[in-house]
Amino acid sequence: MIHTEAIEKAKEHFAKLLEEQLLRVDQIKAGEDWADYSKLQPIIIGVVGGDGIGPYITKEAVRVLEYVLQKEIAEGKVELRDIPGLDIESRVKIMKALPEDVLAALKECHVILKGPLTTPKKGDKWPNLESANVSMRRELDLFANVRPVKVPEKGIDWIFYRENTEGEYVLGSKGYNVTDDLAVDFKVITTPGAERIVRLAFEYAKKNGIKRVSAVTKANVIKATDGKFLETARRVAREYPDIEFDDWFVDIMAAKLVDEKRRKDFKVIVLPNLYGDILTDEAAEFQGGVGTAGSANIGKRYAMFEAIHGSAPRMVEEGRAIYADPASMMRACVMLLRHIGFVDQAGKMEMALDICGQLEKKVVLTGRSDGATGAQFADYVMQTLQDPELESRAKGYKK
Ligand code: IPM
Ligand code: MG
Repeated sequence: MIHTEAIEKAKEHFAKLLEEQLLRVDQIKAGEDWADYSKLQPIIIGVVGGDGIGPYITKEAVRVLEYVLQKEIAEGKVELRDIPGLDIESRVKIMKALPEDVLAALKECHVILKGPLTTPKKGDKWPNLESANVSMRRELDLFANVRPVKVPEKGIDWIFYRENTEGEYVLGSKGYNVTDDLAVDFKVITTPGAERIVRLAFEYAKKNGIKRVSAVTKANVIKATDGKFLETARRVAREYPDIEFDDWFVDIMAAKLVDEKRRKDFKVIVLPNLYGDILTDEAAEFQGGVGTAGSANIGKRYAMFEAIHGSAPRMVEEGRAIYADPASMMRACVMLLRHIGFVDQAGKMEMALDICGQLEKKVVLTGRSDGATGAQFADYVMQTLQDPELESRAKGYKK
């Protein structure tokens, strides 16, 4: 059978996508300056509760955040602002992944704390809208997804720099069914897009005295896009002769993260979007599960901080939302505080989380009624923050 018409339509579709992507390349190249939070007053933190367990764990994280920032809030240096309208029901009502008024409200903030949002997929009870996360990362150009994973007793101290606006994601909702039998998706890597994430990873390593950066691709098979990512990483690496650079394929990297002998050697890991998505869930598992990991989505102008996990609708359906672990959102708050320059407050909150979640564990969450509630955990964190011995309690652990 000849499919001339179908192929012509597909070409048209593809042409439009290429135009959009080339425009995006120009925008990245034009660049903009990094936000200077020391010049902003107040710094506005937008809060999006999210779906499922999102509003529950966000509420507890915000309680701790308000406690940590009580002075700054009282002095008008920081403002927390609720941003409604991003829950799945609201998105579905107007059939928009990221409603325009919500995007406008987000753009009035400087940084955002966001609970998990439901991402519909084919066959769900929801219409198959684009992911609001993906849309927000793209619209606010949050190109770096930074995910630290630390398990001191196992010698694990990783930080993942996941590219956040390209790869399989950027056109994830713009794939094409050429005929009933042929579906095609697109993967996009651009030179300036790869360059800015790799550079950020190297700059982090340089600032923190870290001597190794590893790139992860599948450039042996996905030759054009992953090839470009790897080639760009190699080129940028040459500008940092004091930092060792190596590269791994994603399959063997997934294995090496489990290898007790080798995994301690990894420090800063930079990788395209989808590989970053997968490996960071794997990595977080060593730390106690995705419920314990925070994630920073960094752009030059905006930044958004979130949990790395989903909205766990089953926990809500089964009446267990109050038992959800808010630690991931609290870790996101630590990253947020550090990003906007409140380094001391971030350090204290991190110590309290290490003590409460990993060292002493006097309040244990199980996700069920045999464990503590998120609110009890937040109380425990705030009590710990009041302890004048906070630092020595945390250090005992860090030995
Ligand atoms: C994450 C999540 C998202 C992603 C989903 C919800 C779209 O898994 O932040 O890792 O794939 O990026
Ligand atoms: Mg993920």
